[in-house]
Amino acid sequence: MNHLFDRIGIIWLALFIAGIATAGLAAETEYPNLADKKELVIKRGFTKEALGCIECHAKKMPGTVEAWKLSGMSHAGISCYDCHVVEKSSPMAGQCEGIKGTDIYISPMVSSKTCSRCHPQEVEQFLGSGHAKLASKAVCDPAKLEGKFLGLMYYHEGAGFMDNNKPTYDGLTPKGMPPYNRAARASGCQMCHGTQVELGPDNRPINETWPGGVGTRYPDGSIGTCTVCHTRHKFSIADARKPEACGACHLGPDHPNIEIYFESKHGQQYLSHGDEWEYESAPDTWEPGDYTAPTCATCHMSGIGELPTTHSVNDRLKWDLVHKKSVLRSGERGDGEKGDKEMRKVCVNCHGATHTLAQRKILDNAVELYNKYWDGAVRMKEDLKKKGLLKENPWKDGFQELEYYLWHHCGRRARQGSAMNAPDYAHWHGFFQLFQVYYDMENIYEQRLKNNKIEEMSTVMSTGPY
Ligand code: HEC
Ligand code: HEC
Ligand code: HEC
Ligand code: HEC
Ligand code: HEC
Ligand code: HEC
Ligand code: HEC
Ligand code: HEC
Repeated sequence: MNHLFDRIGIIWLALFIAGIATAGLAAETEYPNLADKKELVIKRGFTKEALGCIECHAKKMPGTVEAWKLSGMSHAGISCYDCHVVEKSSPMAGQCEGIKGTDIYISPMVSSKTCSRCHPQEVEQFLGSGHAKLASKAVCDPAKLEGKFLGLMYYHEGAGFMDNNKPTYDGLTPKGMPPYNRAARASGCQMCHGTQVELGPDNRPINETWPGGVGTRYPDGSIGTCTVCHTRHKFSIADARKPEACGACHLGPDHPNIEIYFESKHGQQYLSHGDEWEYESAPDTWEPGDYTAPTCATCHMSGIGELPTTHSVNDRLKWDLVHKKSVLRSGERGDGEKGDKEMRKVCVNCHGATHTLAQRKILDNAVELYNKYWDGAVRMKEDLKKKGLLKENPWKDGFQELEYYLWHHCGRRARQGSAMNAPDYAHWHGFFQLFQVYYDMENIYEQRLKNNKIEEMSTVMSTGPY
């Protein structure tokens, strides 16, 4: 199956968008009305100005231009000019060496807002998902997050305690903390989550805040980097359908999704036969036959059977398998009951109803069991707190360190391994370690109650179970 578009002189592309605009969206970010019907004219051939960008950049940045030439959009006449030129009044407006002194302004920053001019539906779905505002909230919206987690990021990982820029460590709340060492945040969290971009001379992005991850917040108020999956400048849909596109961020001890996938029967099929599968099918026509087992995109995003493609990765989720206690998704995290139904619609394209039912029940039971561990941990902690047997700094306190591993590492691996059919993650990296960590927490708890004091040294010593 091939691309929808012929490379003809003028392409009239009418995009009729049926989506319903998210309430409040326009007011917050000044996106164009995404629910509008759009008629869009694309001229084959480039204007003189656009050719100027391409020709000079072909010499100065050949890698970028070569990648762009391979993209579907270059064939449709969309160039550097369409995505990088901004109004002079834009807070991001600057000028590159080649256009200094002209009345053209550009920015190296391109957010989902630029894409929304031509792909309003994808952008609307994306903005309503955990991949947009919520993703960067974890890094740059201190007011709305627990002090303790940000204490970890700002004070410990930012090495405030090593006297970087002399921060004031006010009992684990980041309020009033100066922007000291960002090395850990910039090389880690922000590359996956994104943060608020800060500007320097000529409105170029500075202070280790750009380029960033999926939820990057731009100076004009727009949110989101579409190219984390559709790598620039090829903007491939084939790349985004492969698990590696997601594995860039969804990996490691705390959410080993790519590892889980490769361990599952589906991932084994991908590893054995994935190079024979068809990834170039036109949007919404990528179906079983093109592949024999699902990738991440198949289950979470792509159209399959009666389900249309979605850029909201929350749409097909029932549980919250990432936070301390797993609850049915609701509000800004999605709609769990609907999500459950949608996910089942994915499976039944290749499995019988009995198989699907069995698999969903396994997940529900794993969630229930995990929650019991978590509730038990909370009860012990409340007891210790009442008796003054918790240290103020949780990272020097064995009980609290273990509590973190319980939900953030072992607990996620147990839940996500069960959800995505990876028995080794569900058990040996998951439930097995969960009970071990829990037993150790119980021991510390009982010791503290017996002696009515906190043991002198953390018995955990920061070696998290993996
Ligand atoms: C369809 C839109 C689109 C087109 C067409 C496009 N770009 Fe980009 N470009 C992007 C996006 C998206 C980014 C990533 C921006 C971000 O992370 O904020 C980017 C980033 C860049 C960057 C900064 C990142 C880096 O590696 O230095 C440069 C330079 C750049 N593009 C040059 C070009 C040139 C030259 C062309 C034309 C050959 C071009 N772009 C065409 C969307 C586009
Ligand atoms: C005569 C050559 C020339 C022309 C014409 C030209 N550029 Fe550039 N551009 C450069 C060079 C050289 C750089 C790298 C140095 C710099 O950033 O100023 C650059 C940098 C950029 C960057 C990255 C800026 C950054 O902060 O990293 C973008 C985006 C860009 N150009 C887009 C464009 C667009 C869009 C056009 C057409 C409107 C254009 N350029 C026209 C030579 C040119
Ligand atoms: C000026 C209009 C315009 C803008 C702006 C634009 N696109 Fe496109 N895009 C198109 C058209 C037209 C096509 C269809 C080209 C084709 O595949 O034949 C397309 C196709 C695509 C495809 C599918 C390519 C494929 O292989 O089928 C992706 C992915 C995509 N765009 C992503 C983006 C992203 C991400 C941005 C923002 C950084 C963006 N587009 C900005 C017009 C635009
Ligand atoms: C390798 C990429 C990566 C890095 C580095 C990373 N995260 Fe994450 N983070 C993710 C992914 C992916 C998820 C979603 C996992 C899931 O849904 O199961 C996530 C989830 C979260 C969540 C839970 C979701 C929410 O919004 O409440 C928080 C909070 C969070 N990360 C904060 C951070 C902070 C702070 C840092 C740096 C100290 C960081 N992350 C580093 C990829 C990363
Ligand atoms: C989490 C990864 C991911 C992100 C982020 C992402 N996409 Fe996609 N996109 C995909 C996948 C996967 C497909 C292919 C769906 C299918 O199989 O038909 C796709 C398909 C597309 C298409 C082809 C038409 C369609 O809807 O199927 C366009 C256009 C597109 N994306 C634009 C965007 C824009 C604009 C953004 C930023 C708002 C974006 N994408 C962000 C994964 C992503
Ligand atoms: C650039 C990093 C990055 C890439 C690439 C990426 N994600 Fe994510 N993803 C994240 C982060 C960060 C979060 C956590 C969002 C939050 O804080 O709620 C997340 C959350 C999710 C969630 C849970 C959403 C929620 O509301 O809890 C799903 C499902 C997901 N991603 C699927 C995918 C799939 C499928 C792909 C590939 C097609 C993908 N992601 C690619 C960074 C990424
Ligand atoms: C066979 C279908 C399937 C495949 C393939 C798949 N997933 Fe999942 N995924 C699921 C199901 C089912 C859940 C649990 C949904 C629920 O709560 O009901 C889930 C849950 C998740 C979550 C947890 C969301 C949260 O925070 O609660 C993330 C993140 C995720 N998947 C990412 C990925 C990534 C990345 C890949 C590929 C490396 C992938 N998935 C492959 C079906 C799949
Ligand atoms: C595109 C087809 C396809 C889709 C969609 C799909 N699967 Fe599978 N699944 C397979 C194939 C092929 C196998 C390997 C069967 C074998 O071992 O012979 C498999 C195996 C499995 C297994 C291993 C146990 C067994 O049957 O031997 C589980 C569990 C599973 N799938 C669950 C799911 C769930 C849950 C969903 C939906 C969230 C899903 N699958 C969606 C094709 C698919």
